[in-house]
Amino acid sequence: MVSKGVKVSEHEKGKFFAAQKAAKEFIFDGFVVGVGTGSTVKHFIQQLGEFVNKDELEIITIPSSAETHLELVKAGLPVSTLLEYPEINIYVDGADIITKDYVLIKGGGGALTVEKIMARASEEFIVIADSSKYPRDLLSYPVPVEIIKQAIITVLQPIFKLGGELQLRYGSGKKGPVITDNGNIIGDITFRQEYDPFGMEMNLNNIAGIVENGLFPSDADKIIIGQKNSAKLIKKS
Ligand code: A5P
Repeated sequence: MVSKGVKVSEHEKGKFFAAQKAAKEFIFDGFVVGVGTGSTVKHFIQQLGEFVNKDELEIITIPSSAETHLELVKAGLPVSTLLEYPEINIYVDGADIITKDYVLIKGGGGALTVEKIMARASEEFIVIADSSKYPRDLLSYPVPVEIIKQAIITVLQPIFKLGGELQLRYGSGKKGPVITDNGNIIGDITFRQEYDPFGMEMNLNNIAGIVENGLFPSDADKIIIGQKNSAKLIKKS
């Protein structure tokens, strides 16, 4: 997992074990594998790379972001696109939080739109996460949204009417808000009152200028939670 002598946090070990279980137990020869984005998925890519490079597995991967595309190429994995393979056998991705009812919030890495397209184009969606992500309260994490540049002011009032407050996301290495792989703006909506994630997902997407939001209310077929020594399937389809 890491070089000898390097101290690894419990969360990092959890990510590793969740990713390892997904790669070992749920990926089969001939599969088209959709690959999410984030630090947990990086472990999954490494694991797939080991199997494929030892000729133990033959698969095609489809990345959900530019970052993941790069990681897949670095790991020596065959990469294609959703245009060539619109039907994915399995999609594996992390999550920012998972509630006790298995609602996911995603988009902490800014890749939520393609992630949702891929999750919904797949026969099965497996979520991998460390134990800090589950179970979490829906209000404990803002809802990421991808917004068309020209709409960053006009979306404010409709979001407010739904009980949310939008903050544009800023990163480092560039002035101004974070731009997505699709050339749009990323923001995060904080809610202070309980809300219905199913209704909210649709209501947010009904606002003109919002491309997609990070609520995935009933998308996860399986959820694997990693701990410091092992990983457990907490939701089975
Ligand atoms: C990327 O946009 C997100 O949806 C990720 O799935 C999420 O942020 C999980 O990332 P980590 O595995 O790095 O926590």
